[in-house]
Amino acid sequence: TSLTMQNSTDNSFVKKLQSSGRSLVVFYGSQTGTGEEFAGRLAKEGVRYRMKGMVADPEECDMEDLVNLKNIPNSLAVFCMATYGEGDPTDNAMEFYEWLQNGDADLTGLNYAVFGLGNKTYEHYNEVAIYIDKRLEELGATRVYELGLGDDDANIEDDFITWKDKFWPAVCEYFGIESTGEDISIRQYRLEEYEDAPDRVYTGEMARLHSLKNQRPPYDAKNPYLAKITVNRELFTSGDRHCMHIEFDIEDSKMRYDSGDHLAVYPVNNSELVEKIGKLCEKNLDTIFSLINTDEESSKKHPFPCPCSYRTALTHYLDITQNPRTHVLKELAEYCSDPAEKEKLKLMASTSPEGKALYQKWIIEDNRNIVHILEDTPSCKPALDHLCELLPRLQPRYYSISSSPRLHPSTVHATAVVVEYKTPTGRINKGVATTWLREKIPKEDQAALTVPIFIRKSQFRLPTKPQTPIIMIGPGTGVAPFRGFIQERFSSKEDGKQVGQTVLYFGCRKKTEDYIYQAEFEKYENNGLLTLKLAFSRDQPQKVYVTHLLEKDADLIWNIFENNGHLYICGDAKSMAVDVRNVILRIIQEKGNMTEEQAQAYYKKMETQKRISMDVWS
Ligand code: 2AM
Repeated sequence: TSLTMQNSTDNSFVKKLQSSGRSLVVFYGSQTGTGEEFAGRLAKEGVRYRMKGMVADPEECDMEDLVNLKNIPNSLAVFCMATYGEGDPTDNAMEFYEWLQNGDADLTGLNYAVFGLGNKTYEHYNEVAIYIDKRLEELGATRVYELGLGDDDANIEDDFITWKDKFWPAVCEYFGIESTGEDISIRQYRLEEYEDAPDRVYTGEMARLHSLKNQRPPYDAKNPYLAKITVNRELFTSGDRHCMHIEFDIEDSKMRYDSGDHLAVYPVNNSELVEKIGKLCEKNLDTIFSLINTDEESSKKHPFPCPCSYRTALTHYLDITQNPRTHVLKELAEYCSDPAEKEKLKLMASTSPEGKALYQKWIIEDNRNIVHILEDTPSCKPALDHLCELLPRLQPRYYSISSSPRLHPSTVHATAVVVEYKTPTGRINKGVATTWLREKIPKEDQAALTVPIFIRKSQFRLPTKPQTPIIMIGPGTGVAPFRGFIQERFSSKEDGKQVGQTVLYFGCRKKTEDYIYQAEFEKYENNGLLTLKLAFSRDQPQKVYVTHLLEKDADLIWNIFENNGHLYICGDAKSMAVDVRNVILRIIQEKGNMTEEQAQAYYKKMETQKRISMDVWS
């Protein structure tokens, strides 16, 4: 198969490299921007080794052109590739991935290296990068440096800089290059500030100017729908935990959803934090500015919609609450007037053991965001436009939809726990989206509160036939998509269809505290649709979890499996989903009289048949 893309000359990255005197191309497979950021950092650093670099999105390139890269002397292709879901590439790398899988291009003479972005909490850890690294070699290409694997569950920044630190010397040795030793910081974007406000100023749109005022379907990530919040009620509050049920009106949007899909919300940053950055950087946030790519070949002209005010950039476009990566600290160091502060930031950006330890302690464990760093490094006064270049993009937040379109065709429901905690430095960190949503309680005498949303299709689907029996395991807010599933099966039953066994395993701390949707679930239980299995972990001296109930119900579960049933797991990826999987494997082994390997194969087969599905998060 071939990559049938538009005009191949337009998409020839080799021609672009040639015409601009470059020899390094860094491709990225990125969904949330980290892969793209890593690619950018590598491309930028190439200059130090006499390899001028370019970042490239595989979706915008004719990847068959890889066979021509060898025509550029001492050329190198690096791939920063993320793995998602069930070992899937990101959307922008999908076509390239399929081309590698199905094609048989001769890549002899191509020099390459791969860095993977993954998360060990999930199965299929870094499978995409592992495959690409192996496949390129099979096709004849030469691996210049060994595959690097980043684990986002631990410290992916550390994994990346550790890999990068060995990668560059290997590249130099391979090509016989001597490092220029220069460690100059090069800006990717140049600043333009406007004295008089230009006509076109972005105010939070994702792509098209005024798209939030003049709404036009279809709605998607680049063109979100401004949905009215019709209901925002508390499901429970106990101590510092607070859980919300929110309904978004999609009546006029032409958007459709299925139970199991995800709702994406574009939040805005807390205005207090935004104003603090303005003060700390001594900048008037009303100033309108643009950041313009100095690389004219790049398809990315601006890091976010420009021109806009600094306030808009910090409110809508940039992530100001995550722990900054080391390269940000390195650039910030240059703005310190106090030599001790400068050294401290530089140390944290280094790969020395002391530097890494300090980064781990002062940034990760103490959980400092950019505001905290500027507050605690008072002599550091960065140029705000430079900071805007360095900070990552603010990402939409995803929630498992907790309603069924059969019962609620014109609203989408979400169930979310408000994130708020005290950090070791005594500060209160608040989840960007949940804290923002919490305030949005509709009142009759005021204008509707709106939120930019879109729907992301998922693979988490009920069986097509309502007769098929299902087991759903969803402790805590993991129950969200199952409320949708149950509503859907209820609707089938109302339509006179025969509905198979519908079993829900739900767990929470205490029956009277955080048992969400109790009345609704009991109603479905009473009318014979639902079999409810409840684990209240803190209602008795000993913990009772959904896993304990599953162990007792081995016969029921095996029976449903043998009757072609489906199993769904939703919620915490790290401990719950892993424990549930192990219990299920034991049940299969025991009830099916199998060896451990046979049980694993049985489980795997159910996964391939889409009879076991997970919607889990960490
Ligand atoms: P705990 O907080 O009392 O330990 C929802 O979060 C529910 O899931 C809580 O009752 C929680 O119990 C429980 N839980 C915690 N870890 C779990 C695990 N590994 N498997 C199943 N349930 C778990």
